[in-house]
Amino acid sequence: MKIGVFDSGVGGLSVVQSLLEHQLFEEIVYFGDTARVPYGVKDKNTITRYALEAVEFFKNFDIDLLITACNTVSAYALDDMRESSGFDIAGVVKPGIIATANALHSFEAEILIIGTQATIASRAYEDPLRAQGFTNITSKATGLFVPMVEENINEGPLLQAAMEYYFHDIKTPDAIILGCTHFPLIAHAIKQYFHHQSTMIHSGEAMVQYLQQHYDFHQKFTTTELKFFASENPEGLKKVAKKWLAL
Ligand code: DGL
Repeated sequence: MKIGVFDSGVGGLSVVQSLLEHQLFEEIVYFGDTARVPYGVKDKNTITRYALEAVEFFKNFDIDLLITACNTVSAYALDDMRESSGFDIAGVVKPGIIATANALHSFEAEILIIGTQATIASRAYEDPLRAQGFTNITSKATGLFVPMVEENINEGPLLQAAMEYYFHDIKTPDAIILGCTHFPLIAHAIKQYFHHQSTMIHSGEAMVQYLQQHYDFHQKFTTTELKFFASENPEGLKKVAKKWLAL
């Protein structure tokens, strides 16, 4: 299977990392819209327009499936993307919801959803979870974490201060949905902030579980061909990929 992975920038590499760990694909074509990141502060029309342009880009490759690693795009644009593409499209929100429900044993469990402003405003995680019966849900836009991760700040006093700012009045959750591509890189710090009491829901891992349930994977690939594209500074993206994916 040959797949595409789309993100607003470099963050989607956290999803690629999970895909590589599970050796499911022979070839992955990655596109990060680095010229226009962040998407998380933009409105639905703009996010959808950018996402449809990415679909056009992926039409140049013979992919079987497009994984939308970006939570913001997954929250707003999947239906429009599906309409205009000739391939299957999977977003990270649905797998994240399934993984959360599977991880919890009670509808009273405390769930914390964190993401970009746009993802939180969309209620794409919160509404389906409430519809399933979960009642104790807190949604919080934690956009400051995005530039911090981009700046390689994944520990230390600045991150601690941001966590204090966002989380000081939040009761320790049973599950935390890391509803943004960048957050797996600070998952250890968030987990520690909540005294290792919370289950972390990671988009990449949730996506792997989802794909394994929906597709027949007959073999594992010890090597995966990776192609990286970016709308700006592709060399910069390749550098981050080398580091994050230990290539
Ligand atoms: N990729 C985005 C997401 O997962 C985060 C960065 C952005 O705002 O574009 O929501």
